[in-house]
Amino acid sequence: MNSKRITSNNIIKSMTLKEKIGQMTQLAPNLYNQHSEAVVYGALRNLNLDEKKIYTAGSILGIGSPTEMINLQKQYLKNSTHQVPLVFMADVIHGYKTIFPVPIALASSFNVDVARTAARISAVEAYTSGIHVVFSPMCDLTRDPRWGRVVEGFGEDVYLTGEMSKAMVEGYTNYGKLGKDAVACCIKHFAGYGAAEGGRDYNTVDMSRLSLFRDYLPAYKKALDGGADFIMTSFNTLDGIPSTINSFLLKDVLRDKWGSKAITIADYDALNQVINHGAAESQEEAALKGIEAGLDIEMASSVYMNKLESWVEKNVVSEEKINQVVSRLIDFKIKLGLFENPYSGADKEREELVSLSEEHLKMSKDTALESVVLLENNGVLPLKKDSKIALIGPFTKTRNFIGPWAWKGKHDIHSSLEEVFEESIIVVSDKNRFEDLTEEEISLIRQADVCLMALGEEDYLSGEAHSRSDISLPNNQEEFYKSIKKISKAVIPLIFGGRPLLLNGLKNADAMMMCWFLGSQSSEAIHDLIFGIKNPSGKLPMSFPRNVGQIPVYYNHFNTGRPYYEGQVEMYVSKYLDVKNTPLYPFGYGLSYSKFEYSNLKVSKERITDKDELIVSVIVSNKSDVLGGEAVQLYIRDYVSNVVRPVQELKSIKKIWLDANESKVVEFTLNIENLSYYNYQGNLTCESGKFAVMVGTSSVNTLNKEFHLVVE
Ligand code: NOJ
Repeated sequence: MNSKRITSNNIIKSMTLKEKIGQMTQLAPNLYNQHSEAVVYGALRNLNLDEKKIYTAGSILGIGSPTEMINLQKQYLKNSTHQVPLVFMADVIHGYKTIFPVPIALASSFNVDVARTAARISAVEAYTSGIHVVFSPMCDLTRDPRWGRVVEGFGEDVYLTGEMSKAMVEGYTNYGKLGKDAVACCIKHFAGYGAAEGGRDYNTVDMSRLSLFRDYLPAYKKALDGGADFIMTSFNTLDGIPSTINSFLLKDVLRDKWGSKAITIADYDALNQVINHGAAESQEEAALKGIEAGLDIEMASSVYMNKLESWVEKNVVSEEKINQVVSRLIDFKIKLGLFENPYSGADKEREELVSLSEEHLKMSKDTALESVVLLENNGVLPLKKDSKIALIGPFTKTRNFIGPWAWKGKHDIHSSLEEVFEESIIVVSDKNRFEDLTEEEISLIRQADVCLMALGEEDYLSGEAHSRSDISLPNNQEEFYKSIKKISKAVIPLIFGGRPLLLNGLKNADAMMMCWFLGSQSSEAIHDLIFGIKNPSGKLPMSFPRNVGQIPVYYNHFNTGRPYYEGQVEMYVSKYLDVKNTPLYPFGYGLSYSKFEYSNLKVSKERITDKDELIVSVIVSNKSDVLGGEAVQLYIRDYVSNVVRPVQELKSIKKIWLDANESKVVEFTLNIENLSYYNYQGNLTCESGKFAVMVGTSSVNTLNKEFHLVVE
């Protein structure tokens, strides 16, 4: 086709109604090719589609390789009547072939550049296989570590989740430039998916509009502002209506309030599932509710393909409405240049050249180094070069801990912990129980200077449909730790997992690292941190509870009418009888081998108006002999407001690196937007009054100042 004449209008004019509706459906490659290399997550149903129909589909979910993409596109164009190329979308969650830390670990870097880099490199690799759109980032905030998909998100805070999501969108799309080496983004899951009751995946979500606007929606909005072209609806109901047919979300918020033109797409089979929800009696009704609510594409179900046409024929849905949706979809294909080159990106040779390149692996390691959180250290870390190490626990010998949902990542090509620590190890065992250790192993553990215990959850214990009600270390690993603690000179648990776990029993460890799942260079990164070749700088993006009964426990809670203060004897206050209110490890917490001190917190004015900016500065000093990274965190508190405000809200992070004994002045600027809050209508608003500004190394360790805002 001549590119000058390609407009969605012209294309739509030449299409039949059936062909247009086909554009609104996304199918799995397995429908076209039984031997597809693609991994599809979800039950492949009989969609009741004939050959003719599948060759009207608009996009494909998951694709195994560039060769497969090219073949499928060719086959499609040969069989389709309208010659509109397919778009290929896939789950690239934390890397394509070079795997990066899982998103909850990326969030722990407290550094948006880390997330942006991970996304950028993932895009360069995914592009070569002909993937045009990635289903990432997941912008769902969560306060419930039982939820399996904690691993895919950025934790409990709205600011951090929004900033990380936006950075990933910028990385994937190359700041919206798309074209070579970039992919478009489908952010997900709109909305509130992370608030599933009881942390059980797919479960009901019911929350106040205030909480929705304040805590949950801003991250999706930031990601859209960052340049995401698609937004996926969530599986849950919100306020009694499945998100997939929820016109409050898809119209009132997305289109009207935010003015977004992003293409909406249902999650896997979710349009069909509104029947199970009890929100539609039949597929006919689901189709009508979907189109009326503003759902553009359905994924892996055939509700639109089989049932939408009749509503147009009956004049209940206008063809003009369908045209509007389809023109959005075709415009996107034009933007990708698919009419000039339907195989855009797919290139086997280049895939081999760039994937897992030395440069990409180095970047994966750099991101991993910043994603580890040092939870405890009594001075045993970093280890001396000549330390004799006992390496035990289930993760010592495996090469399989790149993390869940890395389907193109190979497990067997990366190093195990045993391999990277080889020179220092005097005993290694991957047994899971003390009773199974041999006499000789026990004796060597006693002799070792230190015992590294690689513990935690296997990767299949988190992710979609992998919620847990008990988030303690599996297989009685806590008992194992306690037995080793009795015999070893120093024990250092290295904790793997996709969620905050219960670590009370390990708090007396000599040192402890939260390693999450760090991707391709996991072992190398851990090695360098253990020996102090690099310095840990990660911070927790989620509170680690003391027990499951505390959940949800999060830092930005309300004060309540009867707040409890540490040491208070008054009985009728908001507390538990059997556990503290505070988490075991708080949000924003993480240690370093450097010793950072904060001093001289200043605000530029004690009174500001809504037109002013407030400059907040603090001196951060590294009182140690080693270079270190510190995520300097700024929180505010709005003391009195028409609706109650949290006791603390993160508003900014500056990650800095300080040489040994170096000091820096760190400056933040706050404006009226940072001091405002979302009201019931989802509008930012603010009132005059007293605020606190808190700057420090974690949510519980800050220097504080007060100032007044005067709204004129
Ligand atoms: C279901 C998941 O919820 C979603 O995150 C994913 O992108 C789709 N399946 C496609 O695999």
